[in-house]
Amino acid sequence: MSPALPALRHYLQFSDLSAAEYAYLFERTAVIKRKFKAYEKHQPLADRTLAMIFEKASTRTRVSFEAGMYQLGGSVVHLTTGDSQLGRAEPIEDSAKVISRMVDLVMIRTYEQTKIDRFAQHSRVPVINGLTNEFHPCQILADLFTFIEHRGSIAGKTVAWVGDGNNMANTWLQAAELLGFTVHLSTPSGYEVDQSVAGIRSGQSYKVFADPMQACEGADLVTTDVWTSMGFEAENEARKKAFANWCVSTEMMAAAQPDALFMHCLPAHRGEEVAADVIDGPQSVVWDEAENRLHVQKALMEFLLLGRL
Ligand code: CP
Repeated sequence: MSPALPALRHYLQFSDLSAAEYAYLFERTAVIKRKFKAYEKHQPLADRTLAMIFEKASTRTRVSFEAGMYQLGGSVVHLTTGDSQLGRAEPIEDSAKVISRMVDLVMIRTYEQTKIDRFAQHSRVPVINGLTNEFHPCQILADLFTFIEHRGSIAGKTVAWVGDGNNMANTWLQAAELLGFTVHLSTPSGYEVDQSVAGIRSGQSYKVFADPMQACEGADLVTTDVWTSMGFEAENEARKKAFANWCVSTEMMAAAQPDALFMHCLPAHRGEEVAADVIDGPQSVVWDEAENRLHVQKALMEFLLLGRL
């Protein structure tokens, strides 16, 4: 008799899991990370296959999902728009039906959230968002685990977001609403977060600041992202002018709590969204943050395929 499988669940945005499920995932990540550091074999996904579909470039997402799936005992198929029928106008719905008959799990990095939503609607297997224009839930999962590792629970804390009202900012807002912390948002005029795109229920978990220095005052974590996300390259020059004052500086870090952390999902542009002294300084945890993509996603894949263990 085949083992009972958990009900089909997708991870398309942060709000797809409950606070209790995140508590489980963070505990499970710590276990999986400990095993990895001890070279202890942990292969609950033997004979399972992950398809990774990339319509945009990646370093961290590709390496962490691919290495992670192999470490869990499974295997990986890597597809891009250029080397598959995805780039030759095969309907997303048809691609989803075919791919999900052949693999156990799909990770997609694409443009509009509607594309991954449509894929998931026609998939027989769980679909994970590896970044869309609107959301980057796997990154925030790693960021939260990194905060917890360094400082304990994030409930009641303050996160300062300095920069673009992009997929990372949207996902931070979803996380704040679900896990009970506050986001101080400071974006240049014209690049604000749209609450309806962020998909949050109320404005109670965030405050907006015109001045990025004020947003950082008293923050437990200061975080940012590139001024121009993938897909918006045509706006690069206009963004460089608009974002000139949204560079996380040592002065901004000094306005935050004395033990405040700095995070950046990477890749970073020193001298643009963050000063080299900050990202390479003592409050920065960006390398832990990047590594933790591996560990949280292993816990996520295990959870989506096997449920709670
Ligand atoms: N942070 C992140 O998603 O990195 P990559 O674009 O390299 O995958």
